[in-house]
Amino acid sequence: MRIVVLVSGTGSNLQAVIDAVAAGELAVEIAAVGADRPGTFGIERSAAAGLETFEVNFKEYASRAEWDAALRDAVAVHQPDYVVSSGFMRIVSASFIEAFNGRYVNTHPALLPSFPGAHGVRDALAYGVKVTGCTVHFADAGVDTGPIIAQTPVPVLDGDTEESLHGRIKVAERELLIKVLGDLARA
Ligand code: GAR
Repeated sequence: MRIVVLVSGTGSNLQAVIDAVAAGELAVEIAAVGADRPGTFGIERSAAAGLETFEVNFKEYASRAEWDAALRDAVAVHQPDYVVSSGFMRIVSASFIEAFNGRYVNTHPALLPSFPGAHGVRDALAYGVKVTGCTVHFADAGVDTGPIIAQTPVPVLDGDTEESLHGRIKVAERELLIKVLGDLARA
């Protein structure tokens, strides 16, 4: 199973996938890693791992539609079975979703449909929920919407900060993403 992974930031979940593949625990080929901006650590660590990388810088395109088409083409070149959004903080439009219909997997640090968006951990903490978690789902053109594949609950502890809670969620998120990718590879 070939995947293309999309990142916007540090790519710590991606690193867990890279490590699982290297350890022979996940029968997946990471065909390439792409980003929507220059200078991400996610791209740096991918290059260090010897993976092919690409950047489709949102700011270099006159319109969202042009960026979306460029991203779609940059991903399609690698002929992935699945595209994995791992901390990719930009919404893609219908043309991208059409190209990878049912094959675009996203991870989110909350129990969707609660707390979608860029601040899922902060919003859950601010609301005062006692349990939050992570979700891996097939993404559509909405903000963290689309059919849920798997979720893991994570308790909110007294005194949690956004950072401490996100740290524990990410531990669960890495495990869940690797499990889901393994299941998809075996399907
Ligand atoms: C992850 O927790 C991911 O779920 C979240 O960004 C983090 C990226 O961490 N994504 C979203 O909030 C999407 N709405 P990483 O770059 O260290 O893997």
